[in-house]
Amino acid sequence: MFCQYLNPKPISISLSPNTEKDDILLAFKLLWKPWRWKFSVNQRNNQRQSASTILEEEFKKYLGVKYAISFNSGRSALMAILAALFGEQASSEALAKEDEEVLLQAFTCNAVPNPVIWSRLREAEARYGEAKARLREAEARYGEAKARLRDDASARQAGLKPIYVDCNENTFNIDPEDLRRKITSNSRAVIVQHTFGLPAEMDEIIKICQAHNLILIEDCAHSLGATYKGKKIGTFGRVSFFSFSRDKVISSVYGGMVVTSDDELAKKIKEYQERIGYPSYFWILQQLLHPVLMNWLILPTYKYFGKYLLILFQWLHIFSKAVHWKEKRGQKPCYFPKRLPDALAILAQNQFRKLEKFNRHRREIAEFYNRELADTSYQLPVTSDGDIFLRYAIKHPNAHQIIQKAWSHNLLVGDWYTTPIAPHDTKLEKMQYTLGSCPNAEKLAKITLNLPTHINISVKDAQKIVDFLKKISKNNKDHNTISTAVEKVL
Ligand SMILES: Cc1ncc(COP(=O)(O)O)c(C=O)c1O
Repeated sequence: MFCQYLNPKPISISLSPNTEKDDILLAFKLLWKPWRWKFSVNQRNNQRQSASTILEEEFKKYLGVKYAISFNSGRSALMAILAALFGEQASSEALAKEDEEVLLQAFTCNAVPNPVIWSRLREAEARYGEAKARLREAEARYGEAKARLRDDASARQAGLKPIYVDCNENTFNIDPEDLRRKITSNSRAVIVQHTFGLPAEMDEIIKICQAHNLILIEDCAHSLGATYKGKKIGTFGRVSFFSFSRDKVISSVYGGMVVTSDDELAKKIKEYQERIGYPSYFWILQQLLHPVLMNWLILPTYKYFGKYLLILFQWLHIFSKAVHWKEKRGQKPCYFPKRLPDALAILAQNQFRKLEKFNRHRREIAEFYNRELADTSYQLPVTSDGDIFLRYAIKHPNAHQIIQKAWSHNLLVGDWYTTPIAPHDTKLEKMQYTLGSCPNAEKLAKITLNLPTHINISVKDAQKIVDFLKKISKNNKDHNTISTAVEKVL
């Protein structure tokens, strides 16, 4: 009982999950060196390199690819990829027309369709600038043009069109059969997401892409270090991207990387990176404060007042949010696309060195859940050797109710994803998603909950989660009794 007060940190899946003592100290030290935040030059191997360049080199070596180009997020990385493939500077045969389509799976985060929707915004903005100059005298018409730019509908028309493909209920990944069905003469690219660090069915997907001349883009936001048939995820696509955001495989609060071995594409992405500039000092400050305040102030007091502090810090903009409210409406915040500032590259490098340790730990905790939750009413994930289990996703008909109950007991289990395009308050129509178009994704959104596997989760913590889950299910396979079980036990 007394121990509970000595260790009041909640068991949490998403509150600074990957941060260890050395990461906090590093962020704390960087806070006092603003001259190193955007771009600084270090001495290493007699070569002068910035921290983001060193990280790019390490990524290239790790994945065995020719190019790695860093950004401030996976979203910026995907924007760069789409601009290089379909933007102003793309080669004439690759230049997309307005109705050209990018296929991607439902049961995802709005961070994936949004860059597709935003992909031509920069061009639209430039066109608006020209129109503004021409219409300076004609105020009425200028007002109209301005209103049109602000109007989401016109921004949508400017972008590529996201086409949602259903997912396989067992793998959480894109369903090759539905992918075949959704391909049209306008289809140009497929974004494959390896959800929760479980690799997608690459053999089948590659065959489809080859047969239909589609560009394969790998979204490895959940899967750094995962393998498919012994080959590293991120090396199958013509181009791939990774994320280092707060609850990904490694974390610098925000960050991302594009990798490719395609010379022409890499050149365009590099030019794009050099053009877009760095995020503001204030934005970098927000990210550096996150691991420090979260671990030294919020988590230790979470059960008392920390959770209110967290809301206050977000409200006061001391912390950034993982998803800006604008994104839930298909609009683009001003800090995308941007380059990776050096301060965050230094944090990411420190995490990258611990990747194998992190993923080994994830696999061990996943094995523990596998063992302990066998023969319960929870449906466990279908697993294979190359999985890294960013989160251990299980299914239960009363998933939402169980998540709520767990949260109320400071067991902060995960809710990826409770809608076909998360977070839950994302406007599906702004994502151009039609309800009913991906039935498996919609079903998964009702029955999926995820358990933490990160480095700060001990076997003892996992045991607490298992005990909670077992209690409420009472090892009863009759799903209808779960609601009453939840009420009785808690
Ligand atoms: C599946 C998936 N892809 C891409 C992204 C984008 O990554 P980032 O948060 O670094 O922009 C996310 C994260 O939100 C994600 O969950």
